[in-house]
Amino acid sequence: FGIYFNGLVGQKPTLPMEYGALERAAEAAMTEEVWSYVAGGAGNEHTQRANVTAFERWGLMPRMLAGAAQRELGVEIFGRQLPTPLMLAPVGVIGICEPEGHGDLTTARAAAATGVPMIASTLMQDPLEDVAAALGDTPGWFQLYPPNDRELTESLVRRAEAAGYQAIVITLDTLALGWRPRDLTIASFPQLTGLCLANYTSDPVFRSRLDAPPEEDPQAATGLWARIFGNQSLSWDDLAWFRSLTSLPILLKGICSPDDARRAVDAGMDGIYCSNHGGRQANGGLPAIDCLADVVDAAGDAPVIFDSGIRGGPDVVKALAMGARAVAVGRPYAYGLAVGGQEGIEHVLRSLLAEIDLTMAVDGYPTIASLTRDALRPVR
Ligand code: FNR
Repeated sequence: FGIYFNGLVGQKPTLPMEYGALERAAEAAMTEEVWSYVAGGAGNEHTQRANVTAFERWGLMPRMLAGAAQRELGVEIFGRQLPTPLMLAPVGVIGICEPEGHGDLTTARAAAATGVPMIASTLMQDPLEDVAAALGDTPGWFQLYPPNDRELTESLVRRAEAAGYQAIVITLDTLALGWRPRDLTIASFPQLTGLCLANYTSDPVFRSRLDAPPEEDPQAATGLWARIFGNQSLSWDDLAWFRSLTSLPILLKGICSPDDARRAVDAGMDGIYCSNHGGRQANGGLPAIDCLADVVDAAGDAPVIFDSGIRGGPDVVKALAMGARAVAVGRPYAYGLAVGGQEGIEHVLRSLLAEIDLTMAVDGYPTIASLTRDALRPVR
């Protein structure tokens, strides 16, 4: 009730209070190119839309007198306590949402201010070391797009380890970029690569592959990056090699099939990241939330992180009830950045956390552990 007595009365919020308004404000704040890139997805975007609407097919069962006056939102992953079940999904090239600034550093500062852990993308505007420093004590994981160059892969993993990242997330669903009609319609978008190569151009192995330093010949650096970015020949046999690179926990991102989840765990992977890349990679697939329960069951004791289609607190609560250990958002915080910089990201995260907390309070679930599949019913 404090919201009404102390908070909003008399002062209109300057940042959008619901997702539709956030989207509209972000579209207005972005150029057409940036909006198309961030908001767009694969094909006719059926999967992207289905990611969101699939949540409406599940309802949370409210429980009364359940002792939920105080909620505890912390979760444990890989032996560490995370303050919230919410995470920032890796969003490469996020710098385009904040053209004057440094989007990854801004994101890291917002993560540090809210305590929401950040998964830092390989495709950043600033080197992973600087982003780790901006995170401070807030947990960070490093997302790896495994390049088609083992020495470079190893170098990136070692740098992430040295910088203090606490887990490596290997994204497997982007060995090639998806068919994205909105991007294909835009003839040229040169800022994109310029804003996401810092982890390569700061890497000694990458630099050793070039005839001239990237500062002198950026075109050659971009050309090399385009050649090594996607590792199309990656197979299950490579997982043993990844395992040998680091003692950090490794998660595989892009897993939607329970068979793949089982295989990943059998190959020594520590966690599964169930996601369809927010519908940006393949169209015609299943909504990611429809894959989650089977993936959780197949993963056994390994924690499952979920993203794709989270647009509000109840979506997070539903994914946790399905068995996700933590839940990540992508586009919502990119829109927050576009609309209000660091404050905009913090606003999106705090609003989500408040809505998660209030949903648990009103529906009678005091802890994350109390959220089980029993809390969910299919909407008929
Ligand atoms: C992404 N995503 C992504 N994933 C990844 O593993 N590495 C990356 O660099 C990126 N880059 C990226 C850029 C942009 C603009 C978007 C919108 C997304 C996918 C991201 O991690 C996550 O899976 C989705 O964003 C989740 O879906 P929602 O929350 O956007 O619906």
